[in-house]
Order: sequence, then C-alpha cells, then structure tokens
Amino acid sequence: MILDHENIRRPAMINAPHILVFDSGVGGLSIVQHIRLHVPHATITYLADNLFFPYGVLDDQTLLSRTCEIVSWAHNHYQPSLIVLACNSASTLVLPHLRAILGVPVVGVVPAIKPAAAMSTTNVIGLLATPATIQRDYTDELIAEFAPHCEVIKVGSAALVDFVERKMAGLKPTENEIKHILSLFNQHPRWSSVDTVVLACTHFPLVKRELSDAAPSIKHWVDSGDAVARRVTSLLTSLPGELSSGAAVNRILFTSSSGITDTFKKGLQPFGFDEITILA
Ligand code: DGL
Repeated sequence: MILDHENIRRPAMINAPHILVFDSGVGGLSIVQHIRLHVPHATITYLADNLFFPYGVLDDQTLLSRTCEIVSWAHNHYQPSLIVLACNSASTLVLPHLRAILGVPVVGVVPAIKPAAAMSTTNVIGLLATPATIQRDYTDELIAEFAPHCEVIKVGSAALVDFVERKMAGLKPTENEIKHILSLFNQHPRWSSVDTVVLACTHFPLVKRELSDAAPSIKHWVDSGDAVARRVTSLLTSLPGELSSGAAVNRILFTSSSGITDTFKKGLQPFGFDEITILA
C-alpha cells in the first residue's frame, strides 16, 4: 500500500456521517459533488476499482461478483454509515445482491428517466450510458414505468467513459472526439426532435460542458446526482446513532496504481480529498 502523505490531516473526533462512495473510476466524483453540497459535514471514503475498469463492458457475472467482493471488503474495513454505489452499470444489476449482504443502507445510482420524461416537451429523449446500462432489463423497466409516452433513443458509449478518465489525467480531449461519440445519436432519424438527454453514467456529468458545446440543440442534460444526494440526506437523518461515527479524513482509494500519475492527482484536487491511497 502506497500512501500519499502530502495533504494528510490528522483525524479529529468529530460528529459526522461517514459515507463510502464507490465506482469503477472517477465517475462517482460527480455524485460526491452533490453529496458535499447536501451533507457538507460528511466524511467521504471514495473507492475506485480501476483494476477492473471499465465496468460498462464487463459481463454480468464478473460485475456482480467483483462489486459484491470489493464493496463488502470496503464496508468491513472502513465501517461507513452508508454506501453509495455511484455507478449505473453496477447499480442496475447488483443493488439487490449488495443490499442482501451488507448491514448498512446502500443508495444506488440509476438512469434519471423519470425527471427527463417530465422535462421533455418533444417526448423524444436520448439515453447516454455505458453499453451495460443500455441493455439492462432494469433500464427498460424504468422507461416502461416512467416514460411510456416518450420515444427513448439509447446510445451506449465506452469511449465517453474513457474520455472522462483521460480528461482527469490532464489529456485535453478534442471537440471532434466528442462529436464523433455523439454522432451515434445524430444518425438516428428522430435526433432532431431530442430536447433532453439522460446522462446515465456517473462519468458523463463531468463532461457536461463539452457535451452541451458539441450538441447545443439539447435543452436539458439530466443526471441523478441531486436526487441521490437528497436520498443520502434523508437516510442519514433516519439513522440515529450513526451520525457520531465519523472518520475525519476524506480518502480516495484506487485498486490499481495504473494511471495514477501526478497530473491525475492534480485533477483530483478540486474534489477535496485529504489522502490518496493505492491498494495493492
Ligand atoms: N461510472 C460508471 C457508470 O455509471 C461506470 C463506467 C465504466 O466503468 O464503464 O456506469
């Protein structure tokens, strides 16, 4: 285990909820931003399973067993009061299994179909997700329940996930690159009617500006971040006793050293972690 001591602060005894946020990579940081706004006093342990990245192309059995294994380990090791599975690809498959084996609330992140269907005036919606989330039964069930009156154009892109990771690593993605990814939408005959796009991968809100620059006709880019943070807030207030078990160090952990360069660490700075740890 390699510890980066540059910014380490000594743990203090404070009353704060301790939240474990989990994703395959940096995508869950888009959820952390919302949690920090709603629960600024929370201590966050962020675990990125970059050893198995990207989750959006893993087969179901591998994704299920890996997520259960690594999140259970982190639960036992860090004892959070609550866990956020900040990954649509995993949440749409693994949530019931994780909830059955863990003794703390687990909040999932799933495609924001319901608010998008409410916002769209054309009733033609884009769904931008990983290839895994696009083909899940769970996603189809959300569409059937909350957007039966809408046409939903689904696009799965592993390239956009990679684009976000490279942005964090300081590599400037070109506008052409993002245009190329969005061309999967453009080719659809109803694209010109799409007014709302669901960002159904936690990585994608981190490049919302680039997406809206490349597709200025889209009025609403909708993600689940705010709804997840509100759910976290409500669960925390109904967890008496858990609020006093805070750890005062905000940590970010990676399961592989691959790609964790100095530039990448610099990219993490705005997210307010005190300690970067590579588990090996
Ligand atoms: N950020 C994740 C999601 O919401 C996973 C992306 C990936 O690893 O493919 O699906």
